[in-house]
Amino acid sequence: QLAVKKKDFLTLNNWTEEEIEHLVQKAYLLKHQGGDDRLSGQILGMIFEKSSTRTRISFEVAMLQLGGHAIHLPTRDIQLGRGETIEDTAKVMSRYVSAVMLRTNEHETIERFAEAADVPVINGLSDLYHPVQTLADLLTIYEYKHDLKGRKIVYVGDGNNVAHSLMLGGALMGMDVVIACPNGYEPNGSITQRAIEKANASGGTVSITHHKDEAVQGADAIYTDVWASMGQEEESEARKAVFAPFQVSEASMKLAKPDCLFMHCLPAHRGEEVEAEVLDGSQSVVFDQAENRLHAQKALLLYLLRDH
Ligand code: CP
Ligand code: NVA
Repeated sequence: QLAVKKKDFLTLNNWTEEEIEHLVQKAYLLKHQGGDDRLSGQILGMIFEKSSTRTRISFEVAMLQLGGHAIHLPTRDIQLGRGETIEDTAKVMSRYVSAVMLRTNEHETIERFAEAADVPVINGLSDLYHPVQTLADLLTIYEYKHDLKGRKIVYVGDGNNVAHSLMLGGALMGMDVVIACPNGYEPNGSITQRAIEKANASGGTVSITHHKDEAVQGADAIYTDVWASMGQEEESEARKAVFAPFQVSEASMKLAKPDCLFMHCLPAHRGEEVEAEVLDGSQSVVFDQAENRLHAQKALLLYLLRDH
């Protein structure tokens, strides 16, 4: 029986503004000052139901640089892929590793795993959330703007996993979050409601609009993501037509503040959700975001495995 209930990082629910602020500050210090924080001998298991470049590499490098180790476990290589239950897998892995990160199709898989596991569980992207991406995004905005509260971030595109976590994380930190999306592609209603509640508590705001040009006015950061997420490949042609008016263009950037950041979780599709000139332009911080995955996740791993 554990004396202290283990903490998971699944949705940003049950994480306070102070905790996220701590993670952002810790990640900033790790990046800019280094330090001798260690997770010697600790092991992270990483289950992937779908592809990944950044999440897989940044978590593995984070554990190695902290003196620990990570094990990459694509579902097809473990018995989970042959029908062993999620709960049995979670109980068995809890006897071997210090924490587990999962990237799954259905969010419920991660929730079930976390419920059965005795070790901290981290969501490395599900159909509903991408909270580790949000940590890196908040760190990136903080690095460039030196604060978060009151900053206006406009997410243009699909109301998907990345949008959900950004909305929750931004709202928690007192930011003004605007989602500009096509009719019918709004973020999930109950997640939006939770984000509004967080914003009400922090002094931030959350709003949803179908008008891109109006939305981006005065933005400190414009963010976009792919139009068809992993698993939606068969919708990708239909989505191209619906989302075309929601491309982030040079004209969109001109409507925002002159020092507005362009953000994207990557992988990107130049000429679809963003013009190449914007993605590769001087306001783009997409590769800082990618690097910051490493620093933000180190801060998260230290918090879950050592400090909490
Ligand atoms: N942004 C992100 O999560 O990238 P990967 O799919 O490459 O991990
Ligand atoms: N929304 C995208 C994010 C990839 C990092 C997807 O789910 O495929």
